[in-house]
Amino acid sequence: MNTNNRLRIAIQKSGRLSKDCQSLLKQLGIKLNLREQRLIAHSTNMPIDVLRVRDDDIPGLVMDGVCDLGIVGENVLVETQAERQRNGQPSEVSKLAKLDFGYCRLALAWPQELGMQDKSWFNGKRIATTYPEILKQYLEQEQIDASVVMLTGSVEVAPRAGLADAICDLVSTGATLEANGLMQGDTILESNACLIQNASLNDDDKLSLINKLMPRLRGVKQAKE
Ligand code: PRP
Ligand code: ZN
Ligand code: MG
Repeated sequence: MNTNNRLRIAIQKSGRLSKDCQSLLKQLGIKLNLREQRLIAHSTNMPIDVLRVRDDDIPGLVMDGVCDLGIVGENVLVETQAERQRNGQPSEVSKLAKLDFGYCRLALAWPQELGMQDKSWFNGKRIATTYPEILKQYLEQEQIDASVVMLTGSVEVAPRAGLADAICDLVSTGATLEANGLMQGDTILESNACLIQNASLNDDDKLSLINKLMPRLRGVKQAKE
């Protein structure tokens, strides 16, 4: 549990979500000095600390209560939840809001020169991904007998490097697939950024601060529509 009396929010340090996270916090009126390349940024006008970490670590930090809130992609949340359930670790969070940024899809892709392929092509193939739990669930559901190669990065080069026949990775603009000569297939999961809260948070001061921030969050969302 985060016994610190300042509300702790985990956001991605650098990546697709970081800019939008920073501007959201700003729009919520949270003043931060993020210029310093530090792990923790203290708000100067509210009892809030912002932790900047790898997106993959955010769900776990919130589930374990190290952070009270987190902003993370649903893709990472679903994957972490499945992995933790399998290991018997805490995996619950309260989802406070779906945010209007960070849209992407988790999709299958394979070398373009192979042309169109249907699901049965994947039988006996190796698929590289950073999302083994979500992919395995999909393969089981579709009754595809493929093996999963876990990579934490550079998934898109796996076919060319001979590490896999196909990949299952996030697609946002499609530029990464295009640059690596890959053709996009079925979407396995669609994802947006979301705001999550530790499921057993019971500090009254923190809960009332969150209650104060939530209407502002809805205001920001409406203003954009
Ligand atoms: C994803 C994915 C690709 C890229 C796709 O990585 O792994 O590298 O985005 O985007 P595009 O379709 O616009 O080219 P992400 O930024 O989520 O970060 P991570 O893999 O470093 O966690
Ligand atoms: Zn990541
Ligand atoms: Mg990437």
